[in-house]
Amino acid sequence: MNTTKIKTAYNKLAKDYNRLIDHKPHNAYYDRPNTLKLIGDVTNKHILDAACGPGKYAEILFSKKATVVGLDISKEMIKYAKERNENRGDFYIHDIQEPLSMCKSETFDIVLCALAMHYIKDWKITLQEFYRVLKPNGELIISIEHPFFEYQYYNSEIYFNIEPVQCTWTGFGTPIEIYSYRRSLQDCINPLIENGFSISKLIEPKPVKEFKNLDPKHYEELNQFPAFMCIKAKK
Ligand SMILES: C[S@@+](CC[C@H](N)C(=O)[O-])C[C@H]1O[C@@H](n2cnc3c(N)ncnc32)[C@H](O)[C@@H]1O
Repeated sequence: MNTTKIKTAYNKLAKDYNRLIDHKPHNAYYDRPNTLKLIGDVTNKHILDAACGPGKYAEILFSKKATVVGLDISKEMIKYAKERNENRGDFYIHDIQEPLSMCKSETFDIVLCALAMHYIKDWKITLQEFYRVLKPNGELIISIEHPFFEYQYYNSEIYFNIEPVQCTWTGFGTPIEIYSYRRSLQDCINPLIENGFSISKLIEPKPVKEFKNLDPKHYEELNQFPAFMCIKAKK
């Protein structure tokens, strides 16, 4: 139900998202430093950036001597990802709920999926495909909205349900409706295990100090309660 709405929203958002992503506090000084720390050394690693957005992660990973293939459902995001990473990597418009037909089995050292799994209701095909394209012992790195944060933020009633939720983002210029799925902690963890992964680390991140100067209120809040969580899982 939400896929078309999500694609439309991100196509509209892409220009401002790309313009702001380098220093947007929740991305630049909360998600990315924590997720990149979890990924570790990427020298000579081949990485699939699933739901790559405007290619900011790819840009950083290339600068650390990795090679990257990026996928995103939004054609506008892919346009910016290609612009940002001129002559480097391959970027495809693709819905990661569908088989990753452009990717051979056992080719990637790392699959990264940052801040996107909450747009997917049923994780089965996505996780099966991530597993298939990873080399033996390859690692899946996910960052996602924290289930406890979302439960409060959306004033949910039944914690255990996977439910469609909606909010208005105002931080990227024109306000825009964003549709996603809220789920419980067990519905974030168990699909990974059921699809063959072993979880090696889970981080409830804290913002880095640059966040404080740009947005002291949220810096304070995020030091008290997490909005995201980052997971490392091994094939
Ligand atoms: C919050 S942005 C994160 C972008 C990037 N991973 C980052 O952290 O900078 C979420 C991205 O997920 C993409 N997305 C949402 N649903 C998707 C799907 N089913 N398949 C592929 N991409 C999807 C959106 O188009 C958007 O670019």
